[in-house]
Amino acid sequence: MALNKGLRVRIERVLAATGRPGGRAPTLVGHGQSGDLVARCGDAFVKVTQRSHVWNSQALEREAEVLRWLAGRAPVPRVLWFGQVDDDLALVTLTAPGTAVSHVGEPEAEAALVATIATLAALHATPIADCPFDLRLSIKLAEAQARVEGGAVDETDFDPERLGLTVQQAWDQLTATLPVTEDPVLAHGDASLPNFVWNGGAQVTLIDVGRFGVADRYQDLSLFLRSARRNHPHVDAVHLLARHYRLADLDQARLDFYRFLDEFF
Ligand SMILES: Nc1ncnc2c1ncn2[C@@H]1O[C@H](COP(=O)(O)OP(=O)(O)OP(=O)(O)O)[C@@H](O)[C@H]1O
Ligand SMILES: [Mg+2]
Repeated sequence: MALNKGLRVRIERVLAATGRPGGRAPTLVGHGQSGDLVARCGDAFVKVTQRSHVWNSQALEREAEVLRWLAGRAPVPRVLWFGQVDDDLALVTLTAPGTAVSHVGEPEAEAALVATIATLAALHATPIADCPFDLRLSIKLAEAQARVEGGAVDETDFDPERLGLTVQQAWDQLTATLPVTEDPVLAHGDASLPNFVWNGGAQVTLIDVGRFGVADRYQDLSLFLRSARRNHPHVDAVHLLARHYRLADLDQARLDFYRFLDEFF
């Protein structure tokens, strides 16, 4: 997708600040759901948010910190640069080779999903003790509540079964169904398929890690399954999870809860 002039200037200013200007013209990858501007320029990915967008700026700052901490612990792209340029905050990472798992073709979908499950299983098996990013449920709920109170939750974007509820009604329902157990692991935090890049191998690269931290494993399993069903409905993702993640039984209540919780982010 071509960049309009205003967006191109913002991206080029960031690239100039990183000391890697010129070269190929940037292409717009998208304005993700987050509203961030994401563009690719050769081997660099540039993610830009306006500093006045407080929630997005905080998320991008956390993403840069997480990427640096995860380097050497999990497959993530290398951070090339992070900083402010005029009214923008920008993160520049090395391009992860391959295709987002949401976009692989039908014949390859199963192999890409198996690689995603293997990478999540390895991440979840990593010790949590020295992880500085704590997103256990009490903390995550406090963040969600701050977003409710700050008007950051969009009720028109709720999943179909919740459309029509106000944010407050949804919040009341969510907090009436809190899970009784928590099984903390290192969790990606936004484990939908566009956030995994597959290059045909046994692992995927984790991207969009702004919500990474110690959280219940179902934080990831829930969003992974929802996204797999949407993007690759012909593949039995539940079966793949049972086989490759080695989870005897899926806890449907926790799957539902973490999907519900995601409505607030
Ligand atoms: N380092 C990278 N290597 C390869 N592809 C990338 C990289 N960074 C981003 N992408 C691609 O750009 C897309 C958007 O990036 P990202 O998910 O970080 O942005 P976002 O604004 O948070 O999007 P959303 O809100 O939709 O999740 C990804 O789905 C992926 O296809
Ligand atoms: Mg994303």
